[in-house]
Amino acid sequence: MLSVRADPIRILLIEDDPGISEGLQRVLAEEGYVVSVESRGDDGLARALREPFDLVVSDLRLPGLGGMEVVRRLHAVRPRLPIVLMTAFGTAETAIEAMKFGAYDYILKPFDIPRMLGLVAEAAESSRRMSQKVALGEPVPGREALVGRGPAMQLIYKEVGRVASRPVNVLIRGETGTGKELIARAIYQHGERAHAPFIAINCAAIPETLLESELFGHERGAFTGADARRIGRFEQANGGTIFLDEIGDMTPGTQVKLLRVLQDRTVQRVGGAETFPVDVRVICATHRDLEAAIREKQFREDLYYRLNVVAILLPPLRERREDVPDLIDYFLSRYGVELGHANPSMDADAVELLRAQPWPGNVRQLENVVRRSLLAARGFAVRLNHVRAALAPGPESVSALAAAPALEAWVDGILAAARREDSGDAHARLIQTAERELFSRAIQQAQGNQAKAARWLGITRITMRAKLIQYGLHPSQDSELAS
Ligand SMILES: Nc1ncnc2c1ncn2[C@@H]1O[C@H](COP(=O)(O)OP(=O)(O)OP(=O)(O)O)[C@@H](O)[C@H]1O
Ligand SMILES: [Mg+2]
Repeated sequence: MLSVRADPIRILLIEDDPGISEGLQRVLAEEGYVVSVESRGDDGLARALREPFDLVVSDLRLPGLGGMEVVRRLHAVRPRLPIVLMTAFGTAETAIEAMKFGAYDYILKPFDIPRMLGLVAEAAESSRRMSQKVALGEPVPGREALVGRGPAMQLIYKEVGRVASRPVNVLIRGETGTGKELIARAIYQHGERAHAPFIAINCAAIPETLLESELFGHERGAFTGADARRIGRFEQANGGTIFLDEIGDMTPGTQVKLLRVLQDRTVQRVGGAETFPVDVRVICATHRDLEAAIREKQFREDLYYRLNVVAILLPPLRERREDVPDLIDYFLSRYGVELGHANPSMDADAVELLRAQPWPGNVRQLENVVRRSLLAARGFAVRLNHVRAALAPGPESVSALAAAPALEAWVDGILAAARREDSGDAHARLIQTAERELFSRAIQQAQGNQAKAARWLGITRITMRAKLIQYGLHPSQDSELAS
């Protein structure tokens, strides 16, 4: 995920034990956070209300005012400011209770530093991303924006404006990388609940058993390993919005439970008997074909109707190529800032080449290609050859494909590259690499006869020609490529 760090993340640490606060302050400062310390609960609360912090990390037992009260009062005024509680083992129950009052999470003392840093990074990131409205249509310097002024996106902005202030559930659809998550945040930020919590959960990233307790919470002893009670995200998001990403990946068992929550507006913790009323707006997203999933009995139809009160369908990038130049400008300036290049630009023929791409990975893929081109250009104007290089599948994947004893190894290679670069374009890369190979071999075996190759592939000659040009395999490109 792209993030611009023009100014550092500010953390308020409320801790009365000087040993702990000094140690933590040092560790956090080493990570680049700017840390302020208060040793009393009342002073901490006052400071958090006075100064702009991105995150509060507070002890539970404090002089002046307890951590629980800090959470309750601070959350009432600044519901989007995440508060992480630190607590000794004996008081864990209280910390768990505090999540009902809006604490982001808690951590037991003595804590392991990597887990602490992980939690802080996650909370700070969500705080930053939520604190500024996603701009619609027009880029605003230093802010995340939904870019694209073409007619398709104009309709989407209107739709966002229309649904934002109505408390209805929204289902966001679209291919991978089309901006579903960005739209979800925009709907939240432009709506009436913008000052209430927003909690995002990726249903595909959490195993089924954990997902249920993540969403609905659990009682102590509900299952092996449940040694403490857990407050679920629905309870935590009460009054606010919950974003269920990749809802199409939710298992039927969890779907039933979610349906019950939406119907009854109450939540029951796993292994618990009590029900708690919850008022939560649900925004969902998926790239899956839910109608097909319903036919295949993988997705519940009744749940589908509950979630799909308003549907927003994000068009793939290839259907709104007119937005490509604006997107390029936007990503050039964002990554330019990050890479320290002033006013990066791209040659017109390079922009044209990008406009013509099929973009199976949509905006995310374009973003990655622009970033790679910018890196290749090393601070100078981005030229056609930089873009060509950025579009070409990585050498590691092509050679791996030829040498791989199995498809699995090849896929693993692409995944490993994506993990290493955290680039989020494994899907697009895989498709492009495989596709290029397919076209290159077909045209070779057809001895340059495009009509024949097109027939084998089951595509039109026009598509064949376009693909050959795209992958630099068209004979007319030879001279151009050599120059
Ligand atoms: N219209 C847009 N303007 C600017 N940036 C965009 C736009 N659409 C998407 N992006 C950027 O592209 C990347 C992917 O967007 P996002 O994560 O919202 O996609 P997604 O549809 O949720 O993808 P996936 O299905 O893979 O989860 C993000 O970095 C996002 O900021
Ligand atoms: Mg997404």
